[in-house]
Amino acid sequence: MSFTVNSPPTVRHFPLSRTSIGRTPRVTMVARSNSGVSVSTATALPILTKLQHDCATPLPVLRHVADAMATDMRAGLAVDGGSDLKMILSYVDSLPTGNERGLFYALDLGGTNFRVLRTQLGGKDERVIDTEVEQVSIPQDIMFGTSEELFDFIASALAKFVKKEGGKFVLPNDRSRETGFTFSFPVKQTSIDSGILIKWTKGFAVSGTPGKDIVACLNEAMGRQGLNMRVSALVNDTVATLAGARYWDNDVMVAVILGTGTNACYVESVDAIPKLQGHKSISGRTIINTEWGAFSNGLPLTEFDREMDAASINPGEQLFEKTISGMYLGEIVRRVLVRMADGSSLFGKHIPERLRTPFTLGTPNISSMQQDTSDDLEAVGSILYEVTGMDSNLAARKMVVEVCDTIAKRGGRLAGAGIVGILQKMEEDSKGIVFGKRTVVAMDGGLYEHYPQYKRYLKDAVKELLGPKISSNVVIEHSKDGSGIGAALLAATNSIYEH
Ligand code: BGC
Repeated sequence: MSFTVNSPPTVRHFPLSRTSIGRTPRVTMVARSNSGVSVSTATALPILTKLQHDCATPLPVLRHVADAMATDMRAGLAVDGGSDLKMILSYVDSLPTGNERGLFYALDLGGTNFRVLRTQLGGKDERVIDTEVEQVSIPQDIMFGTSEELFDFIASALAKFVKKEGGKFVLPNDRSRETGFTFSFPVKQTSIDSGILIKWTKGFAVSGTPGKDIVACLNEAMGRQGLNMRVSALVNDTVATLAGARYWDNDVMVAVILGTGTNACYVESVDAIPKLQGHKSISGRTIINTEWGAFSNGLPLTEFDREMDAASINPGEQLFEKTISGMYLGEIVRRVLVRMADGSSLFGKHIPERLRTPFTLGTPNISSMQQDTSDDLEAVGSILYEVTGMDSNLAARKMVVEVCDTIAKRGGRLAGAGIVGILQKMEEDSKGIVFGKRTVVAMDGGLYEHYPQYKRYLKDAVKELLGPKISSNVVIEHSKDGSGIGAALLAATNSIYEH
């Protein structure tokens, strides 16, 4: 059985629901046992206890995940299909230096929003002279429509944006406009400006695109719009984030996205990529897009994860993503709450249909509930009532917060272990260069940005695994919306013109 995603959160825009929604929920009365524990809470408690047990991520589990990540990376670098991790070659062999000049565009497709950006670059002294960005949300029917409809939608938004060019943005007469295209799905790159879509993720199910060259699809759609624009770099959002962050900081070696979906890329030496044949890199380095969302080795999964996976449009795939990323955390919590509601009178006798609807509860909702510090958890009650239609008493609200925390904790800690796995692999190969000096992990995505508990769990796990000394060299830096400017910078680096 498959289901549609009702309202998945956006990739980098992950607004928190307001904690006070306005309507006051009804407070349910529950019977009390002699021990003083409410009867409804007592029956739901074993479900919570088992959940906490199954989601536990003590140090040995984290270590296993970090080690397995490093091992799977090596296997994926050895041969295509060697592991869950695709370890995709990005064809980005040189990163921005600061010398880039001129007008460049960027397109960014990766979640429920599509962004267009233009930037005027002024070289080392002036750097970014001006930038303009516009964002369009992608209608549900486009996410489930045909390839032609999707690319026509993108090209038409881009054409409208180009028409508004002016002011500080200047294109020399003899040149075509150039753009970077951030396409945040697994793509088998065939060159810096071409690549075949392997599969859709994050709830997209556009027909006719898998197996096709994404840039060719975009070029055809731009042709239909009469738009003359050259795609000079096709990049994943992690790669664009790394490029954007490296423009300002030379120590950036890894980029991670934790938003609707998740992924990581890093700087690899070409000598460490056995599957690389005939690829020349002047720098001796290249960026590898790990596509770590597909990682699955040793994850502490629960029956709720398995049920969610089985009902998804890509069963058995993207298991790491389904355990740690923003599209899924709220849905896992919802599934636990349904079980609690069915097995006890925790939320009263009547279980609203909305609670049974997949993806009703978003990750922004569970984050908002965890921010409620009031004595009666009023905001938790309001969110539960507004979003799922459920009434709750204080005991039930406390239970819900515990469930949210359990799922966020597992996600954040596993994400931290994944990061350590990548750093560990780099350190093993470079002997001291990664852990012995400042190394920056550029991080973007609404989940990391807007879920403070998740972020703290992630950082704690990194520290636990690396110890205080080494972890003080590892800087996780939020690179907000760095992928837009990063894609434009990579368009400049790969421009056909002299700059
Ligand atoms: C995609 C990646 C992307 C990540 C973050 C995943 O679902 O497979 O290509 O980088 O989401 O947007």
